[in-house]
Amino acid sequence: MLTAESVGLDYRNGGSVNRAVDGVSLSIDPGSFLGVIGPSGSGKSSLMYLLSGMKRPSRGRLAFEARDYAAMQAAELMRLRRRRFGFVFQQHFLINYLSVFENVLVGAVRRDHATAARAHQLLGQVGLADELHKRPFQLSIGERQRVAVVRALVHLPAIVFADEPTASLDQATGRQVVEVLGHFRQQTGGAVVVVTHDPDMLTGADQILHMRDGRLN
Ligand SMILES: Nc1ncnc2c1ncn2[C@@H]1O[C@H](COP(=O)(O)OP(=O)(O)O)[C@@H](O)[C@H]1O
Ligand SMILES: [Mg+2]
Repeated sequence: MLTAESVGLDYRNGGSVNRAVDGVSLSIDPGSFLGVIGPSGSGKSSLMYLLSGMKRPSRGRLAFEARDYAAMQAAELMRLRRRRFGFVFQQHFLINYLSVFENVLVGAVRRDHATAARAHQLLGQVGLADELHKRPFQLSIGERQRVAVVRALVHLPAIVFADEPTASLDQATGRQVVEVLGHFRQQTGGAVVVVTHDPDMLTGADQILHMRDGRLN
């Protein structure tokens, strides 16, 4: 579904070049769970930016459903991200003056009855059925991150990219967040990519890639 062939990303500052991602090849199949693990600075986030089309590669080729990213305009890539991908970050980026329910729907591709019904259902599944009208600041950190996960899933993305989604959470709360992603895979056949430095968050992964100095090993 998504393929990366020998992709690289350089950051240039002054005369020096930092090869943040260096010759990575991988493929992501529908419904699969890919884990990426590695120390801070090893290029995990940079790899996610390449896979999701947020940054253009310095080298190599990327394609989603046989569409080459290099042949797509920035606006097309943005549309691809919005419609087909979902994102979860270490920070939840919820909007404090909107309710839980509004936060889930605010960026949704469609805001129709089906999407609203799915938002209800997903918030119920993550134990937030009674918190729909609360504001983010009234929730615990773990609850906020579950809202952010529901927001990433509500448009039924083909792939969810989660970059250290459990890094601000304790172990038990972190596991809950990963379990929500697992249910999503089973129910919709969507794929999940989780970046972490905690191997315990990758139980059940189909594939675990170890990153170091921009390379997989
Ligand atoms: N915007 C940037 N400009 C220059 N260098 C960057 C930038 N973002 C990341 N880097 C560098 O690229 C390397 C990989 O960073 P990153 O992808 O954030 O790793 P990780 O997510 O594994 O911590 C690091 O050496 C980091 O300092
Ligand atoms: Mg990172």
